[in-house]
Amino acid sequence: MSNTAQRKILVTSALPYANGAIHLGHLLEYIQTDIWVRFQKSRGHDCHYVCADDAHGTAIMLRAEQEGITSEALIDRVSRDHQADFARFGVGFDNYHSTHSEENRYFSELIYTRLRDKGHIATRDIEQMYDPAKGLFLADRFIKGTCPKCRTEDQYGDNCEACGATYTPAELIDPVSAISGATPEVRSSTHYFFKLPDFADFLHEWINDGHVQPQIRNKLLEWFESGFNEWDISRDAPYFGFEIPDAPGKYFYVWLDAPIGYLASFKNLCDREGIDFDAYWNSDSEAEVYHFIGKDIVYFHALFWPAMLHGAELRTPTAVNCHGFVTVNGAKMSKSRGTFIKAATYAEHLNPEYLRYYFAAKLTAGVDDLDLNLEDFAQRVNSDLVGKVVNIASRCAGFIKKLGGGKLSAHCAEPQRLARFIAAGDEIAEHYETREFGRAMRRIMELADEANTYIADAEPWVLAKQDGREQEVLDICSVGINLFRQLMVYLAPVVPAMAEDARRFMQLDSLSWESRHTLLLDHAIAKFKPLMTRVETDRIDAMIEASKEDLVEEQKLKSTPKGPLADDPIADEIAFDDFAKVDLRIARIAKAEYVEGADKLLRLTLDIGGETRNVFAGIRSAYAPEALEGRLTVMVANLAPRKMRFGVSEGMVLAAGDDDGIYLLEPHSGAQPGQRVR
Ligand code: MSP
Ligand code: ZN
Repeated sequence: MSNTAQRKILVTSALPYANGAIHLGHLLEYIQTDIWVRFQKSRGHDCHYVCADDAHGTAIMLRAEQEGITSEALIDRVSRDHQADFARFGVGFDNYHSTHSEENRYFSELIYTRLRDKGHIATRDIEQMYDPAKGLFLADRFIKGTCPKCRTEDQYGDNCEACGATYTPAELIDPVSAISGATPEVRSSTHYFFKLPDFADFLHEWINDGHVQPQIRNKLLEWFESGFNEWDISRDAPYFGFEIPDAPGKYFYVWLDAPIGYLASFKNLCDREGIDFDAYWNSDSEAEVYHFIGKDIVYFHALFWPAMLHGAELRTPTAVNCHGFVTVNGAKMSKSRGTFIKAATYAEHLNPEYLRYYFAAKLTAGVDDLDLNLEDFAQRVNSDLVGKVVNIASRCAGFIKKLGGGKLSAHCAEPQRLARFIAAGDEIAEHYETREFGRAMRRIMELADEANTYIADAEPWVLAKQDGREQEVLDICSVGINLFRQLMVYLAPVVPAMAEDARRFMQLDSLSWESRHTLLLDHAIAKFKPLMTRVETDRIDAMIEASKEDLVEEQKLKSTPKGPLADDPIADEIAFDDFAKVDLRIARIAKAEYVEGADKLLRLTLDIGGETRNVFAGIRSAYAPEALEGRLTVMVANLAPRKMRFGVSEGMVLAAGDDDGIYLLEPHSGAQPGQRVR
């Protein structure tokens, strides 16, 4: 039984780039989408959720090269990592694919050739910066130089961080390739363009037709007024991507085949499960298609993408649902503050369902940024999920076991109250449907408050001490469990793992939206186990510390050159004064020990002439602690102390190192601990 006819719904989240880890910012999107999908499935609709890694482009090619592996090996590894992260956060894709797939090649060629054959592709020669050392055309962000306006050095090719000026790379003073350091030259080559202006009328109608949120529509109309250009969809070899048909040496720009990856992933699912692909994508399809994206990629999804689909005679999306950006403690996620938190780092310290609930509680259908305030996070999860919801079950379960032998009453003592809880489901469903998750959570917590008040007023624990009132106690607690069951139906899309435990506790086949209509009477429940524990603030602190360490590891990776010195350009010149600021001292390694839980670090106690310093050094792979004790080395004595998960590091020892080994510096004999090095 369902309120509405069964809908056919295809849902996507943006495809994460295959060159970086999933972080909490990304997770807002995947969690938002997953909640919406789980809700649709709970309602009995035929809903499919697909995603993929966005695997093409220069950045991925260069990253693989830097790691000394093939692009394919890189994207395989990253895809596994991404999928493991998503699984830990309960993001339940029906399919996770890659844009570097045969299906994607097929659809990219299909869409491109259809557009070309209808005259929507143009070619023309353009001039671009070229790195002669690397044999590569350079995107603006791979060129650096001095700002032509304010003369600040080391600015990117498109805008100056110091004065905000925008310019073309050709205007930079003394431009260099950020990849090789070579001076770029201007070269001409033929590029392929998608003639977006051909679709201006179509797009104007489309964006006024309810497919995007009002704020997005306004933004798009502004762009409209400034007029659009043709879109450059080709890149020259070498490029990690698909070669353009009949255009040797020319590749599809990554953003052309990225959204087509939605089709590719869905096709891959259809082939596996026998779903009718065309029923979703033909131009007259009655199915619904929703893309969830962040506000930074609206242009691609609300202009290029509908135009491409329309031009290729495929259906356009029902809606593009856009969300804002995650900030942490009121500021942009920051690596140095430890608030750039990777999904894996979070999951090592905290229950992923806390985050799912917190995001849900703060999400709206709008595009405002969402602040993850870590204090508020702990407080909200503890008071709502643990204090209100779990509390209902834990207060009632014991009496049911003791007085009912684990079975609920055969009749309902509060039919009207339960009817109201059930009826609230329609309103809550409306909030989920319209992506007003915050409203849904508030309504659910109001119901939880009501359930707790009912139990508190009925005082079953007082009655339980009085003779002959066992049935009353059992009735009250059975109502409590029935109310809890309603709440878990409503919360299940948000906290699927907790809901699964609750389902087992209540011995139900399902917590689907419709299942709530039958009351649990004369129904046996299982032994109660705590369904969720409180957020502990020291775990939050540990997560922040671990995120700071992630940063240190990354910086090491970046600064570790591969191979001989020739590959590692000497750093920029500094003044003597800059050097003199570094206080280098001879240090005696008084003690060296392993650090529990750190596979790269040794803890060194350094004697610098009467003063000792505690330093963590990433040299464990090269030295056994006992081999170091008593030796002399050189340390930076005035480095700002850094708090790490294992303690504070008060300096740094000097070592040479690359992939082939690590070599601690040691002075000639006769040097004394504490002596200044210069
Ligand atoms: N590869 C493109 C998307 C191609 S879709 C055909 C891309 N990838 S991404 O990894 O940079 O971002 C994936 C999604 O995560 C995007 O929708 C992006 O807006 C979202 N977010 C990335 N950082 C975010 C926050 N800090 N906060 C919220 N969402 C964020 O863009
Ligand atoms: Zn400037």
